[in-house]
Amino acid sequence: MAASIKTVDGARHTRILGMGSYRPSRVVPNSELVDAIQSSDEWIRTRSGIIERRFSEDHETVQMMSVESSRKALAHAEIDPAQLDCVVVATVSHLMQTPAVATLISDELGSTPAAAFDISAACAGFCHGVGLASDMVRSGSAKYVLAIGVERLSEITDPTDRGTAFIFADGAGAAVIGPSEVEGIGPVVWGADGSKYDYIRQKQSWSDVLKMEKALMPHLRMDGNPVFRWASFEMAKIASEALDRAGITVDDLDVFVPHQANMRIIDAMARTLKLPERVVIARDVAYQGNTSAASVPLAADALLRSGEAKSGDIALFVAFGAGLSYAAQVVTLP
Ligand code: COA
Repeated sequence: MAASIKTVDGARHTRILGMGSYRPSRVVPNSELVDAIQSSDEWIRTRSGIIERRFSEDHETVQMMSVESSRKALAHAEIDPAQLDCVVVATVSHLMQTPAVATLISDELGSTPAAAFDISAACAGFCHGVGLASDMVRSGSAKYVLAIGVERLSEITDPTDRGTAFIFADGAGAAVIGPSEVEGIGPVVWGADGSKYDYIRQKQSWSDVLKMEKALMPHLRMDGNPVFRWASFEMAKIASEALDRAGITVDDLDVFVPHQANMRIIDAMARTLKLPERVVIARDVAYQGNTSAASVPLAADALLRSGEAKSGDIALFVAFGAGLSYAAQVVTLP
């Protein structure tokens, strides 16, 4: 008779044990970008809500920003790096095809031989990472998981492209996920619509770049308006579903942390969801721009550090971006 394979039990409940973030030092106001795109501070503020953003300096690499934000998250969680079983890094701007930057980050943190890999789900990447991490802890394949969202989009954004130059920015955010006595992470609601693959993407493939007479960085390009309409209508539905699946309503919610893409999308979602006045809404996009995978953890961590949100608050995360892909979940803030 064939041997039977043992089943491993994981934790019954999971939660975010600690969070941390890293904002690059260089503050870039709209005025610095407008000439190259024939725009104005007023147009950018009115259409996107962005006042300024952060661009990284040379030493603020994807690895460096990840390690800085992770150290804060680990200290907040009171977890030693050696206790981590897995490091998941959501990013689209680590400009090395392989190996995964997660292996370098894990090693620098002192978490080797934890499993370490990158995931590519663009702006929805961090919420995918939290969902995966929670499921790993629940299934018994890991006890403590570090989920990072990090981007250095300034490097892959064309400063002369009117549709993206004022939007994208840099930063990192991290969360430590582990077992809990009570439920702290609701079911993830996620998905993708590859029929809209072209809406936000790298302009040329790496092989096309090699065929160019003079190789140029394949920058990001975006059809902003269709993305805007899709996000404003469809993402409130995904957020609602995440509330339903967690068994709560907007009346139980303390904090709303949507992807920081555009203030008008944030306002539209808040209106559609009929969020009560007292719900704190993350509006980090004004000072941080759109940092893709880093936007939700940066915004959540900012609310925790400023005291606008507190430990134990129930928060709704929802993120969306290239793919088009999306993910949402309800969490208890650490
Ligand atoms: N500065 C000044 N004018 C600009 C401009 C700029 N940077 N970019 C476009 N315009 C002009 C257009 O030419 C157009 O002019 P027209 O009316 O004379 O034809 C007008 O502004 C409106 O352009 P449009 O593209 O329809 O603007 P918009 O209201 O959709 O706002 C974005 C543009 C990019 C701010 C918005 O579409 C957006 O935020 N999209 C979603 C981004 C997002 O959520 N991404 C998530 C995944 S990363």
